[in-house]
Amino acid sequence: MKAFILERYGKKRALRLADMLEPELRDDEVLVQVHAAGVNQLDARIRDGAFKLILPYRLPLILGHDVAGVVVKVGSRVRQFKSGDEVYARADDFRIGTFAEFVPVKEASLALKPQGLTMEEAASIPLVGLTAWQALVEQGELKKGQKVFIQAGSGGVGTFAIQLAKQLGATVATTTSTANVALVKRLGADVVIDYKTQDFESVLRDYDIVLHSQDGKTLAKSLRVLKRGGQLISISGPPAPEFGKEIAAPGFVRLVMRLLSAGVRRKARGLGVGYAFLFMKANGAQLREITRLIEGGAIRPVIDKVFPFESTPEAMTYVDSGRAKGKVVVKVK
Ligand SMILES: NC(=O)c1ccc[n+]([C@@H]2O[C@H](COP(=O)([O-])OP(=O)(O)OC[C@H]3O[C@@H](n4cnc5c(N)ncnc54)[C@H](OP(=O)(O)O)[C@@H]3O)[C@@H](O)[C@H]2O)c1
Repeated sequence: MKAFILERYGKKRALRLADMLEPELRDDEVLVQVHAAGVNQLDARIRDGAFKLILPYRLPLILGHDVAGVVVKVGSRVRQFKSGDEVYARADDFRIGTFAEFVPVKEASLALKPQGLTMEEAASIPLVGLTAWQALVEQGELKKGQKVFIQAGSGGVGTFAIQLAKQLGATVATTTSTANVALVKRLGADVVIDYKTQDFESVLRDYDIVLHSQDGKTLAKSLRVLKRGGQLISISGPPAPEFGKEIAAPGFVRLVMRLLSAGVRRKARGLGVGYAFLFMKANGAQLREITRLIEGGAIRPVIDKVFPFESTPEAMTYVDSGRAKGKVVVKVK
């Protein structure tokens, strides 16, 4: 099958189109013919080599985490899906590879594609949708009437998280640049801070939850907009020791995590707020909840650009720019 592979780790290293063997299917997996693949910052960070400690992949590697497509084969223990089903998923860690014609996905990570969405729209959802769900619903337990600050509202995670938080009944503040103010307002943001002209710390106070996705300087400031007992959930680091335990990381990796996050954990304790690092996971059951919200009209995909399969490296470069408004998708079939 045709696939885009990473042969060596390295910043901005381009993927190469290659002929690869079709993946062997395990008993609990289905083989999906990829129609569209979402492109994520995670693909770019893995390519850079930034995740070598957490996700030690062997090269060559087919990149790509998000898929929408059609089931063409099912493993012997699969019960919920059959050939011909239209599905979508965040591919499983160590089984990724959606920048290809076929990808295996565990039954437990898969859901039927939301009705009414194109394959490209469906492929834009899983990784960012599950990230927002796991941050706001699972970890944050965000409730009606609470206040949440979602950073980078115009990005892949932000465009989904704003809509989800509004659906949960929260007041939503977000940051974006001048050009994207109208977009985040349309998605439902109540308080919009143009980071080019305003400092969020002087506008926001007593927030229940911050979904942090930016750099360390932003992290320190974000702790101070929380009320006592509030929670900062970071998806851009530093990883906390609990995360090391969760992924059963070796001792030295856990030590690195402990040291990297010591400063922010100390500051959080001093302010009486919580700090958690989240690394999203594939989850078919949560994806079905997301499907329900999409089919009910509460959440809609926000797509910036769709690239043809041959232009997957250009799609990666565009995501790398950090300027995408919503999601970037590759049309494979
Ligand atoms: N831990 C996890 O499980 C997990 C999961 C998903 C994502 N992430 C991480 O979360 C971060 C965001 O991911 P993403 O997919 O949403 O990225 P993305 O789609 O590439 O984000 C691009 C957006 O970020 C905005 N932006 C850039 N700098 C900003 C700033 N200083 N303040 C506010 N907005 C800013 C840009 O808006 P302007 O053009 O207006 O600046 C653009 O719309 C990345 O670091 C990613 O690696 C982690």
